Amino acid sequence: MTDGAGPMAATPPRRVLLKLSGEALLGDAEYGIDPGVVRDIAREVRDAVSEGIQAAVVVGGGNIFRGLAASAQGMDRATGDYMGMLATVMNGLALQDALEQLGQPTRVMSAIAMNEICEPYIRRRAVRHLEKGRVVVMVAGTGNPYFTTDTAATLRAVEVHAQVILKATRVDGVYDADPELHPEAQRYSRIGYTELLSNRLQALDATAVSLAMDNEMPIVVFDMTVPGNIARAVRGERIGTLIAGEESR
Ligand code: GTP
Repeated sequence: MTDGAGPMAATPPRRVLLKLSGEALLGDAEYGIDPGVVRDIAREVRDAVSEGIQAAVVVGGGNIFRGLAASAQGMDRATGDYMGMLATVMNGLALQDALEQLGQPTRVMSAIAMNEICEPYIRRRAVRHLEKGRVVVMVAGTGNPYFTTDTAATLRAVEVHAQVILKATRVDGVYDADPELHPEAQRYSRIGYTELLSNRLQALDATAVSLAMDNEMPIVVFDMTVPGNIARAVRGERIGTLIAGEESR
């Protein structure tokens, strides 16, 4: 018997928040959802979760609708953002479908009530779902216009006490300049929040970074186009760039 304080004391299970951009679901298409890509993502998440890791997923909607782009063309920004939030719900349902076809119990929780389609986001309920080994897909952003999916992901990660945000993108980390425009750009293996903010590096928006900084929430930015990287990131392998603390290198 152990008293809970010895070497047998259980370490809390790893809990992560995986942020997927809507574009991640595009595959080679210009618009919409590629079912094969969604299946591949779901398989990686399922594999990691089957090892006991708790995973929340926040998904964007840019593969279907981009509020910011619509507002640049004259649409009211708030209306565009609400349409973008609805797009994230479609992506969330596609992910749930793929995960459950692989036998992985999944709950979709929306920041905007649409009870006929999915559950409302209730923080304590989300935590219970995670504890029971369900993947929780959190959709409709924060429910408010003018906030990005990165900010929603940070907010949810802080709320459910995730240990890390895993931001899956098409680049393999944070660079000191845009690597597509500057081939000599250097990738950070680690960068502090303030350096990221003061250099206006485009990896994440400032609202998300300052919320993460205030709550000491580390963020890993990694390339999800490399097969296996989502599972690696979820398991905690050191890939991409770690955004945390003060130090950069
Ligand atoms: P436990 O309470 O841990 O058993 O969780 P559970 O999610 O299995 O139980 P619950 O009875 O709350 O939900 C059963 C199913 O209904 C799950 O697939 C939920 O996602 C779904 N569900 C629960 N609440 C809502 C809701 O408000 N709207 C919709 N559309 N589905 C819901």
